[in-house]
Amino acid sequence: MATERTLSIIKPDATRRNLTGKINAKFEEAGLRIVAQKRIQLTMDQAGKFYEVHKDRPFYGELCEFMASAPVVAQVLEGEGAIAKNREVMGATNPADAADGTIRKDFALSMGENSVHGSDAPDTAAQEIAFFFSGLELVG
Ligand code: CMP
Repeated sequence: MATERTLSIIKPDATRRNLTGKINAKFEEAGLRIVAQKRIQLTMDQAGKFYEVHKDRPFYGELCEFMASAPVVAQVLEGEGAIAKNREVMGATNPADAADGTIRKDFALSMGENSVHGSDAPDTAAQEIAFFFSGLELVG
């Protein structure tokens, strides 16, 4: 399997509870390498642009308000099959459905406040990485 990069976001519910280190440990234990990382406060406009694909969904407004409610940690994870591996480590979107040992099972509060975001495919990974990071910030 090829080495890939994927975009991860540690969401406000997790940064508020000081869980960045515990979540990063799960990525690293799974063999994912954090090759770029920054803690930032998103504006409503930036959150809206990032989640534009969901703009017609009923939860879009709530999702943008939540993502702009406290700092997030944006990061690039690298590894063999990193996109699928990250989704495995995160667990199902709804923590009620997440497998034991996954980030969402252990830390998520609800479907909306679900602690982490991860890209779902190679094209979205490339777009989402470019949304947060310049090439100079990716040091491998
Ligand atoms: P994420 O992987 O970041 O992608 C889109 C997000 O929308 C998702 O995680 C959830 O946090 C959120 N989301 C999806 N479905 C719902 C829902 N029914 N109600 C509230 N938020 C949702």
